[in-house]
Amino acid sequence: MPRILAVDPLVPSPIIIEEAAALIRAGKLVAFPTETVYGLGADATSDDAVRSIYTAKGRPSTNPLIVHVAEVEQARAIATEWPESAQILTEEFWPGPLTIILPRREGMTSSVVSAGASTVALRMPDHPVALALIAQAGVPIAAPSANKSGHTSPTRTEHVARSLGDAVPLILDAGPLSGGIESTVIDLSTNTPRLLRPGLLSITEIERLIGPVERVVISAGPSDELLTSPGQLTRHYAPYTRLMLSSNIDADLLAHAGQKIGAIVMHPIDLADAVTHAMPTNPDGYARELYHALHELDQQGLDLIIAEVPPETDEWLGVRDRLKRAAA
Ligand code: TXA
Ligand code: MG
Repeated sequence: MPRILAVDPLVPSPIIIEEAAALIRAGKLVAFPTETVYGLGADATSDDAVRSIYTAKGRPSTNPLIVHVAEVEQARAIATEWPESAQILTEEFWPGPLTIILPRREGMTSSVVSAGASTVALRMPDHPVALALIAQAGVPIAAPSANKSGHTSPTRTEHVARSLGDAVPLILDAGPLSGGIESTVIDLSTNTPRLLRPGLLSITEIERLIGPVERVVISAGPSDELLTSPGQLTRHYAPYTRLMLSSNIDADLLAHAGQKIGAIVMHPIDLADAVTHAMPTNPDGYARELYHALHELDQQGLDLIIAEVPPETDEWLGVRDRLKRAAA
């Protein structure tokens, strides 16, 4: 099992942070909390360290990683351009669950991070432990979610340990995280900003500041897939148990669906034959609990998990995206 060190989420111990930072500087992996999901971090300037992230996750080397910074200046140095839109968005939302894509400056990060692309993804996470770790390490930290590629992201330490096991030497445990789904990814390297991945920060909030953002088609099948951002892979965030979406979960559906059923529901319903997980009915609350619900139900040896789909409105875009991909 990996070493797990408990750390105060608000006032992290400098001794623990230095221990983790020393591992990062030595080219090792450290799982750490952010405001969204736990990340699997490595020195973003080292080819070998970044490669070890791909190995630990079993992640295709064509899927680029996000570079995490502790200060805006650090991000500016990693990109060759800093458009007005980047200035406006980072002033308002950093630190926070927003990732921006900009043209990459040669020599500031390993090209392995960008999977050979001429752009780089940048984010300043809103978590005292993450910010302290990046600052203390003295290098930007590349970090995808700390789970096996394609599967449900971790919002608690036990999710990380279960998914990655010995592949990660150290996990900084700051308890359950408040965000629950990943950051929103916006491409600012093109003329019109493009939404590559809906996420915790609502697209409405972003458009309020910079105007219309092009929505990259979120396809349901592999045939019409538009691979602008590799994270847009159709099947992603998936539990090991089969997941099905339904707009109307009732006893009838469950009776026909199979034997051992788990249900993720937003409306109170008495389902005697199912393991039910009642979800908050607002997008933030739902996001916070979604992955935990999937991890919990995945542990129960069920034949099928059925989730009630949330409303088709913009504020639910991030949550709906994760559910659709997890069920694909
Ligand atoms: O909330 C988050 O963003 C978490 C925490 C740990 O910060 N990280 C995360 O990383 O979700 P990951 O690797 O699971 O997702 C990174 C996303 C993927 O969709 C990837 O394709 C996209 O960002 N991405 C990274 N670099 C890119 C680039 N240069 N161009 C286009 N998309 C890029
Ligand atoms: Mg991920």
